[in-house]
Amino acid sequence: MNIVNLNSGLSACLSSLHKKSEEEIHAKARAQFNGSDKEFSDLLKQYGALVPIEKGHFLKTHGISVQDSSLSLSISPEMGNFLFNLTLSKRPEFILELGSSRGVSTLYFAEALRILGRGKVVATEMEDSKCDTLWRNVESLGLAPFVDLRRGDVFSTVEAINETFDMVFIDIWASGYLDIFRIVEKRLKPGALILADNMYTSSDEVLPFKIFLDDHPCISNLTLDFESGVEFGIVL
Ligand SMILES: C[S@@+](CC[C@H](N)C(=O)[O-])C[C@H]1O[C@@H](n2cnc3c(N)ncnc32)[C@H](O)[C@@H]1O
Repeated sequence: MNIVNLNSGLSACLSSLHKKSEEEIHAKARAQFNGSDKEFSDLLKQYGALVPIEKGHFLKTHGISVQDSSLSLSISPEMGNFLFNLTLSKRPEFILELGSSRGVSTLYFAEALRILGRGKVVATEMEDSKCDTLWRNVESLGLAPFVDLRRGDVFSTVEAINETFDMVFIDIWASGYLDIFRIVEKRLKPGALILADNMYTSSDEVLPFKIFLDDHPCISNLTLDFESGVEFGIVL
């Protein structure tokens, strides 16, 4: 992976946030798995070797769910690099990030905006302690001019929003994707990018959203076979 101009402070911060998130997920999955440490380690290896589309089914088969508001559940470095590059290419005025957690995806967006020298990512998160961590990192890395953090439930946040957006990244609990998108779609500019994570890992929960996009007369979309399954759409 090659991210241009990622300064060493940001790089160190992201490494530590990615590591913490991965450790939390492993601990949560381990607690739900009835087997030895060796069996769990084999399970992790099997999961790592799966193609993205098999991941959701695999987790369900083993009774593992990591949806837990105390966890970071951050995007992977590869997904971060993808969002970073898309931002550099799109040169957005406003990005709407739905579900910011401790701010990993926010940092990739904000760093790209810093390089471009303009734009804002509107970050949304309901957990106060996660917002505190996000804002501490954003400020200490000099990225505050590019981030507008809105605390609280994303449905109230989005109802109160006045901006129109060039990009939206959906990463809240998967069962809420369709309801939030119905509100957000009125705020997307023509040509806006629609990105949604966990399309494979939460395939059952996101199905109403997927069907809605597939049937939408003004949206062109597909699911990218990448990481957790990424919906990639364009507003026509
Ligand atoms: C998968 S995590 C987001 C990870 C984040 N994008 C990152 O890369 O670090 C989902 C986050 O969405 C938040 N969330 C879920 N439903 C929400 C809602 N209705 N309003 C605000 N935040 C919500 C959760 O608290 C959680 O922190």
